[in-house]
Amino acid sequence: MTIEEIAKKFRPPAFPGSYFLSFEGIEGAGKSTQILKARDYLEEKGFRVLVLREPGGTSFGEKLRQAILNSQSPIHPVAELHLFASSRAQLLSEVTLKELGIPNTVIIYDRYLDSTLAYQGSARSLGFEAILQSHTSFPLTLVPHLTFYLKIPVNLSHDRQKMRNAPKDYFEKQGQDFYQALVDGYEKASALFPERILQVNGAQDVEDVFLDIKNHLDQLILENNSRPEN
Ligand SMILES: Nc1ncnc2c1ncn2[C@@H]1O[C@H](COP(=O)(O)OP(=O)(O)O)[C@@H](O)[C@H]1O
Ligand SMILES: [Mg+2]
Repeated sequence: MTIEEIAKKFRPPAFPGSYFLSFEGIEGAGKSTQILKARDYLEEKGFRVLVLREPGGTSFGEKLRQAILNSQSPIHPVAELHLFASSRAQLLSEVTLKELGIPNTVIIYDRYLDSTLAYQGSARSLGFEAILQSHTSFPLTLVPHLTFYLKIPVNLSHDRQKMRNAPKDYFEKQGQDFYQALVDGYEKASALFPERILQVNGAQDVEDVFLDIKNHLDQLILENNSRPEN
């Protein structure tokens, strides 16, 4: 099977009136900022909105999150891949699928499959095929209806991280080459999932970035509302 054929097996969940979204991009791309704006906007439109991040969101996942982020010794890329896949499967079954079953719910993931492709697949050199192959069992085959990839250059990520002045975690300690590999990974993921992943210019002003996102959200909701009931 080609990688394109494997990619076609990944589908959004089908729950009438509910949506699954994710936000992607390197550190400082504006994910947290834009997720808050998207949440406010969708709540104004009458949706119930839940924001989730991996690994975490379940007691099992939070333990894995601490293990990864606080690690003082290197974690093997294959171990890293399976830790993330493990917490992902748990969060999907324990939270995401249950909540999406309630009509008019929007689940927003702060990073999802494309982060695994970019971090473990590209930056950690496992390759896209290994990542997708480790996700071939339900519920790991679920992908968002839309993914917003907030695209910024590596130097802007550094500038914004410096301004933020937060302590560096496991991933943020990496160098320039690592960040470039992430950007390359996100580009490759965008090419593999062209309908799902929308590239948004994250270097714009906060309000202009959100305007692009809002337009796509309006379109998604409008398209689904105009579909005949059956
Ligand atoms: N479009 C933007 N223009 C300028 N600064 C921004 C923009 N978006 C976010 N920031 C700032 O950059 C930093 C990182 O943003 P954040 O939303 O936390 O990114 P992420 O969650 O992707 O790491 C924060 O200090 C935030 O206020
Ligand atoms: Mg963030």
